[in-house]
Amino acid sequence: MKNIIITGCCGFIGYHTALKFLNDKKYKIIGIDNLNNYYDIKLKQSRLKLLNQYSNFHFKKIDITNYKKLFNLVKNLKIDYIIHLAAQAGVRNSIKFPNQYFTSNIQGFHNILEISKFKKINHLLFASTSSVYGNSSKFPLKENYNTDRPNSFYAASKKSNEITAYSYSRIHKIPTTGLRFFTVYGPYGRPDMSLFKFTKRILENKPIDLYNKGKHERDFTYVEDVANIIYAISKKIPRKPTFYRILNIASSRPIKLKRFLSIIEKNTNKKFKIKLLPLQVGDVKKTHASNYELLKLIKYKNFTTIEKGVKNFVQWYKSYYKIK
Ligand SMILES: NC(=O)c1ccc[n+]([C@@H]2O[C@H](COP(=O)([O-])OP(=O)(O)OC[C@H]3O[C@@H](n4cnc5c(N)ncnc54)[C@H](O)[C@@H]3O)[C@@H](O)[C@H]2O)c1
Repeated sequence: MKNIIITGCCGFIGYHTALKFLNDKKYKIIGIDNLNNYYDIKLKQSRLKLLNQYSNFHFKKIDITNYKKLFNLVKNLKIDYIIHLAAQAGVRNSIKFPNQYFTSNIQGFHNILEISKFKKINHLLFASTSSVYGNSSKFPLKENYNTDRPNSFYAASKKSNEITAYSYSRIHKIPTTGLRFFTVYGPYGRPDMSLFKFTKRILENKPIDLYNKGKHERDFTYVEDVANIIYAISKKIPRKPTFYRILNIASSRPIKLKRFLSIIEKNTNKKFKIKLLPLQVGDVKKTHASNYELLKLIKYKNFTTIEKGVKNFVQWYKSYYKIK
C-alpha cells in the first residue's frame, strides 16, 4: 500500500486526481485542503463528499501555510508521494490581490518542500502552469523555452516554485516533477474559468464578455486526461543527476475561442450574445504546448477531443445545477 498526500484535493484537478488513485486500491490518499472561499465552497464540499465515499481516502482540513499542522500530520506516517495541487489560482485575480498568491503559492509551497525533505519521499509532483511562458511567440511551447518574463504575479509565483523545487531536489535528492498544466477543463470545473462562465451565461440567456475579440487560442486539456497522466507520471521517478524534471501537461491541440464558443452553443442549443472587449492585462494571447517530452515518458495516446470534453462538461453542469 502506498501513501500519497494530495494537497488541494477539494479543488478541480485535485478531486479528479484523487479519484483516479482511489480507484486503485493499492493507494491510500491523505487529502489536504483549507476549503477556502475563492469560489463557491459548496462545489468543493460536493467534491469532498464524493471522495469521502472511499475507505482509502482520509481528509485533513489544513492550510498549507501552517507548517506545524503539516508536520504533526506527517510525523508518524510513511509518505511515498506528494502530489501538490493546492494553490491560489487565477491569473487576473493575482494582479489585484497578490497577498494570497504569496502566502499559499510561495510560502505554502516551501512548507511542502520541507515536508518532502523531512519524510524523504519517493516523488514530489507539483502544479506549475502554462502561464510561466508569458507572451511567447514561438510555438509549440517547449519546456526549455524562456520563462523569465511572467505576465502576472500568479505566473511569477509558479515560476518561483519551479526554481525552489529545483534547488531542493538537487540539494536534498528529492525526486521531483513539475507539471505545467495547460487550460484544464471538464466536469466539476472551476467557476472562474471560461468554460464554466460561458456555459452559465448562455444557459441564463445573458451576454458574455469576449476579450481580444475572441482571437485567443488555448490548448484545452481534459481533466480526466490530466488525472490519468499524473497517475502514470507518479510511477516514473526522476533519477540522477538532478532528480528533477518539468513537463508540459497538454493535449497540444490549440482551439480558437470562437470555435470553442460554437461547441458550447451546439451542446446547449443556444446562441451567445457577445460583448467585445479589448485584451486584458495579464492575459496571454495563445497557448500551444509541445507534449513531446510527456509522450516520450508515458506514451499517453487517447486525448479527449474538445467536442467530447465540452459535451461532458455541459451534461455535468446541467445535472449538477438541475437545469432542464
Ligand atoms: N485548472 C487549470 O487549468 C490550471 C492550469 C494551470 C495550473 N493550474 C494549477 O493546478 C493546481 C490545481 O488547480 P485547480 O484548477 O484544481 O484549482 P482549484 O482552485 O480548484 O484547487 C485548488 C485547491 O487548493 C485549495 N487551497 C488553496 N490554497 C490553499 C492553502 N493555503 N492550503 C490548503 N489548501 C489550499 C483550494 O481550497 C482548492 O480546493 C493549482 O496549483 C493551479 O494553480 C491549474
